[in-house]
Amino acid sequence: MRPRFRHVAFSILGLAVLAQLVPYGRRHSNPPIVAEPAWDTRTTRDLAVTACFDCHSNQTHWPWYSHVAPFSWLVQRDVDRGRAALNFSEWHQRPSKAVDALPTLCEGAMPPAPYRRTHALARLTLREKELLYDGFARTLSGVNEFQASEPALHPEPGDGGSGRGGF
Ligand code: HEC
Repeated sequence: MRPRFRHVAFSILGLAVLAQLVPYGRRHSNPPIVAEPAWDTRTTRDLAVTACFDCHSNQTHWPWYSHVAPFSWLVQRDVDRGRAALNFSEWHQRPSKAVDALPTLCEGAMPPAPYRRTHALARLTLREKELLYDGFARTLSGVNEFQASEPALHPEPGDGGSGRGGF
């Protein structure tokens, strides 16, 4: 190895090792689930779990590379910003702007493209997107057809077509 090349190689290696010491991105916290939407059906929830929960819930599945900087920083940033925008585990404080955007976003922009590339299951088919779109719309308008054996996690008073539940 030429000395100059070796120098560069060791510098890069050194930086990669040092990067692991940065605390940001190592916490991997999944805070408690406070309140979920009163999902209209289990299918809607399942689809949301598959495609949205990693960034929009407190049930993030942290992949192995989320332990390795600099990827850990990118994952942490997505989760922090995603949860701040909309958190299905803290539905009691859902921002109305994000809720309004919810049905339309799942048609294209969400989940973000880099995530779709690395998560095969989150690449919803057209049919699944339609189901999720309808499911969000029905959930937001208070429809609830969860089976009795699978009760809604947090049914709101006045469920059953009485319009959007109280904030
Ligand atoms: C890889 C992480 C990730 C996944 C997976 C993901 N999102 Fe997001 N989402 C984000 C981030 C980050 C933001 C915040 C964007 C910003 O602040 O500009 C966001 C913002 C949003 C917002 C708020 C938009 C607004 O105008 O306030 C909605 C609604 C949303 N996402 C819906 C979804 C839905 C529905 C899914 C699943 C189909 C999903 N997201 C999957 C990362 C993600």
